[in-house]
Amino acid sequence: MTGSGSKAFWEKAANEDPAWHIATKFKTLDEDFYESGRKEVNEFLDRAGLRLTRTQVLLELGCGAGRMTREFASQALRVIATDVSPKMLELARKHLTSFKNVDYLELDGNGNLPVESGSVDALFSYITMQHVPTALAQERYLAESIRVLKLGGWGLLQFRKPGILPRILDWIGHIAHAVSGKRTLNAAWRGSRIKKRRIVELAAVCQKYEFIPIGRRHIWLKFET
Ligand SMILES: C[S@@+](CC[C@H](N)C(=O)[O-])C[C@H]1O[C@@H](n2cnc3c(N)ncnc32)[C@H](O)[C@@H]1O
Repeated sequence: MTGSGSKAFWEKAANEDPAWHIATKFKTLDEDFYESGRKEVNEFLDRAGLRLTRTQVLLELGCGAGRMTREFASQALRVIATDVSPKMLELARKHLTSFKNVDYLELDGNGNLPVESGSVDALFSYITMQHVPTALAQERYLAESIRVLKLGGWGLLQFRKPGILPRILDWIGHIAHAVSGKRTLNAAWRGSRIKKRRIVELAAVCQKYEFIPIGRRHIWLKFET
């Protein structure tokens, strides 16, 4: 599957049931939904020992309906909110009308970031790489994330954890959701697994990188350029 498969899947998700597809415990894009984004942004930045400032530009890879974007926009100078689905971007824009410091950017879904090299201070991605259907596209997203960061910038990207047990747990989840009528067996939901060795090879060009232990089902890469 290529980026166009992701686009079709996530457009339908955004049109029919965006809250569930973004975070399965939610049914609507209500205040609780956005509050969960605020809490998670602060929790993850704290766990990674990172801080955003009013002078920084942050690129969010896979912003969905802006659940976390709202908090990023309240902390950063500017946010570039990116997503494969134009409808997701439209929902984010609609729910974040009071935030004038957010730019919305549609992606092709194949790993390309149409952003100038060395132009952003910070980059963040949560529960997005896990849906990207090929390891190659995930590798490209990582390489592109490093490319667009300024010298002295940082990134925090979450990937599916490699290994048999996380794979089994993921499949149990996909099947349970499919039984309840969701399209979770689709490759655009199941995503792929990038090899940890490839993450390390790609991150090696950074000044510094490390894996941050947050949760059991994912690996988080923190990198500094
Ligand atoms: C589970 S949602 C998470 C959204 C947001 N990070 C959050 O936590 O609220 C995943 C998002 O990734 C986007 N996405 C899926 N496949 C993608 C791809 N190949 N490239 C870029 N974005 C993608 C979807 O459109 C969706 O908005």
